[in-house]
Amino acid sequence: MVDPKSVPRYTFNDGNTVPFVGLGTWQSQPDGSVYRAVRHALASGYRHLDCAFIYQNQDEIGRAITDSIKEGVLTREELFVTSKIWLTHYSKERVEICAKKILSDLQLTQIDLLLLHWPFTFKQQDDNLFPVDSDGSVIGGDVGFVEAYKALEELQKQGLVKSIGVSNFNISQLTRLMENTSVKPVTNQVELHPYLVQKELKEFCNKNGIVLTAYSPLGNPGSAVNTAADKDKLLKDPVVNKLATKYGKNAGQILIKFQVASGNLVIPKSVTNERIESNIQIFDFDLTPEEVAELSALDRNYRSCSFDITSKLPEYPFKN
Ligand SMILES: NC(=O)c1ccc[n+]([C@@H]2O[C@H](COP(=O)([O-])OP(=O)(O)OC[C@H]3O[C@@H](n4cnc5c(N)ncnc54)[C@H](OP(=O)(O)O)[C@@H]3O)[C@@H](O)[C@H]2O)c1
Repeated sequence: MVDPKSVPRYTFNDGNTVPFVGLGTWQSQPDGSVYRAVRHALASGYRHLDCAFIYQNQDEIGRAITDSIKEGVLTREELFVTSKIWLTHYSKERVEICAKKILSDLQLTQIDLLLLHWPFTFKQQDDNLFPVDSDGSVIGGDVGFVEAYKALEELQKQGLVKSIGVSNFNISQLTRLMENTSVKPVTNQVELHPYLVQKELKEFCNKNGIVLTAYSPLGNPGSAVNTAADKDKLLKDPVVNKLATKYGKNAGQILIKFQVASGNLVIPKSVTNERIESNIQIFDFDLTPEEVAELSALDRNYRSCSFDITSKLPEYPFKN
């Protein structure tokens, strides 16, 4: 276990703080797996969890949090929980409904960080989280991200949410968001790893005081939706493995440390005890600036999470 106090924290542009490393929970199954993973993560020193309405596993996560607090593993105040509003819930009223469901599933009275999951929206409806028409195309919504973000600002005023932000926004969308709303997002959660370093987005966000949160930092190797034949190639990359040998670490630890060394928050997912433990044991070594540059130079615009079925929607962020 790592001492939670030894995990550095980042201070957001609104003054709230967050541990640099958190546990991802996408595709962590609500069959007891995500419960066990969260319990193990909290016992191993994690104090930051990344969740989302669409992952449909938040009730198990809520039970794991509550049981860990009851057993004295941690206090609520020590824990940082992120969740995300889903695309069928972007109208003003529906953002609030979604946020309240998130809070009740997670058994929390306040969420530390609430994000808009994507810049585009789906048809606003309850019974289907992926509405498609007769030819199988996803049905976009007529509500925009500005309206949804303003609803987040309201929730923040009410005290249901401490910090607010976005995910998967490109520079043009961030610019429009900031021109039309009053609270700057604290973070933009996007895919980041040495094969996708997103240099321009990073520079833009740095300039605007928005920290990047790195999702799929290991390249999303075990994902059911990532069908690339070589989906574990990042973990096998020779440069990554050369550094792992040098520091006596594994490839995952080098990839996670790369994000922290680049100034990004990072949320590796695992339901495997040994990986959960090792993924946060990255604060007993440092990559040199030259090694960070060497890893950055592996950039090849490889995106594991392109959400292709949404690519025809007007606000699809990866058109360029
Ligand atoms: N905002 C968004 O749109 C968005 C999109 C994608 C992801 N996310 C968030 O970011 C989190 C992380 O991204 P991700 O889940 O896509 O991918 P990831 O963290 O890059 O990779 C997770 C996969 O790697 C395996 N793994 C974990 N640690 C490992 C290690 N040390 N060595 C080898 N394999 C390891 C896991 O397997 P086991 O679980 O079997 O151990 C799992 O299959 C998500 O869970 C989610 O919370 C957000």
